[in-house]
Amino acid sequence: MTIPYTQPPVIAVDGPSGTGKGTLSLKLAARLGWHFLDSGVLYRLVGMLADRQAVALDDAPSLARLAAQLPLEFRPGREAPEIYLAGECVTSEVRLESTGALASWVAACPEVRGALLQRQRELRRAPGLVADGRDMGTVVFPDAQLKIFLTASPEIRAERRYKQLKGKGFDVNLARLLEDIRERDERDSKRAIAPLQPALDAEILDTNLLGIAEVEDRVMRLAYSRGLV
Ligand code: DC
Repeated sequence: MTIPYTQPPVIAVDGPSGTGKGTLSLKLAARLGWHFLDSGVLYRLVGMLADRQAVALDDAPSLARLAAQLPLEFRPGREAPEIYLAGECVTSEVRLESTGALASWVAACPEVRGALLQRQRELRRAPGLVADGRDMGTVVFPDAQLKIFLTASPEIRAERRYKQLKGKGFDVNLARLLEDIRERDERDSKRAIAPLQPALDAEILDTNLLGIAEVEDRVMRLAYSRGLV
């Protein structure tokens, strides 16, 4: 049965980093021909700008101003969209582990989250949106037609990240990565606002056991069964 939805469809993909969220979301968006929101990039950019402009990570009004005025543009890239900030390509800097850590700090600031909320919601356009983040199904799109929450143990996630970074030629340390992941999980899941947790109606998929192709198949089957495609 096809359900007549009034809003363009959203597939919300949430979970901690290293669970394959980004890869899954990109694949789904390409397969469905839908728009794609990598919400982590927004927090990463705010963290990066705060660092560049020496804004303290507890200066909420200044952080919120940075968030509200992000001169951000996505341009088509080979594997994923390239990220531009006022015309400067910042994709590599945005993806650094150190930028991820800054993002995790600024993401705990309610003023920053508030400033980014509308911007994310505006991306809900036909034919649909795949939204990747931590609070897509709980806060940004609580009425998303399909909510996925990916999990995996910190050890497996650290190993994946290690291989990914090594493959890109970075000098990385597995034990340090695992420690960083644990720290970031703690901060992201314990914060007072929009903590990392599955929505009550999310489908939880454990990627310790499932490969990315299998996860993609399951999500596509769920999308069909809900009349989204
Ligand atoms: O997914 P990522 O690694 O790019 O996210 C970077 C940080 O941003 C992460 O530590 C938590 C935060 N984040 C968030 O709080 N809410 C989101 N929707 C996306 C990311």
